[in-house]
Amino acid sequence: MRNIVISLGGSILIPTLAGNRIRSYVPVLKAIAEHHRLFVVVGGGGAARDYIEAARELGVDEGTSDEIGILVTRLNATLLIAALGDAAYPKVAESHSEAKKFAESSKIVVMGGITPGQTTDAVAAVLAERVRASVFINATSVNGIYDKDPKKHPGAKRFETLTPQQLLEIVSQIGLGAGSNNVLDIIAARIVERSHIPLVVLDGQVPENLSNAILRGTFTGTVVSEDNKSPLPV
Ligand code: UTP
Repeated sequence: MRNIVISLGGSILIPTLAGNRIRSYVPVLKAIAEHHRLFVVVGGGGAARDYIEAARELGVDEGTSDEIGILVTRLNATLLIAALGDAAYPKVAESHSEAKKFAESSKIVVMGGITPGQTTDAVAAVLAERVRASVFINATSVNGIYDKDPKKHPGAKRFETLTPQQLLEIVSQIGLGAGSNNVLDIIAARIVERSHIPLVVLDGQVPENLSNAILRGTFTGTVVSEDNKSPLPV
């Protein structure tokens, strides 16, 4: 039984509240949790973006907009916990130490954001560091890290592997504002670089991609590790 941290992007889990895909992730997360100690960090999705946009239109500062985003991530986390039922620890972890404590229950631990100026990817990266995760999975809406945004540049090239240093160089070129939509935030990249925890960035829009990657080692994505070796299957 290994520790696994998944950053489950809000854009894939809850792109909109009405169009949320929580139901389809429940069996997959439960299946993974039968074999490993699982921590899931949930993003804000469309609702967070809507709230942040509304706050900006009201002239609200970025830090306060971030706090609003954090509340939405925790609301999303609450919904996922409720859907997971007995398989999840019944409360959203509001800090990394709380997440560690909740993990003693052997249930799936779910958390959202914790502090302004970052995204839930950074929360997940630090969590991976603190629980000495065997792998940190960033489940997002693209199937890996590209040299350019593949949604804007059809010729963008996907990296099969990157060293943590290369990852840091790539994400350093991207900005960070409340609600900004990047494949991985720079704080998460810095943590990955210092912690030596292998990171796998994959397309999490199909829930089974997660179980196939973690339990069977079958996936398309980018592996970030010092030795270019895939940590999957765990
Ligand atoms: P997300 O982690 O969902 O950010 O947090 P994101 O990258 O914009 O969204 P997805 O995952 O691709 O859909 C939503 C917002 O909440 C605030 C930030 O403003 C972030 O953009 N947030 C979140 C924080 O300020 N701190 C946190 O620890 C987490």
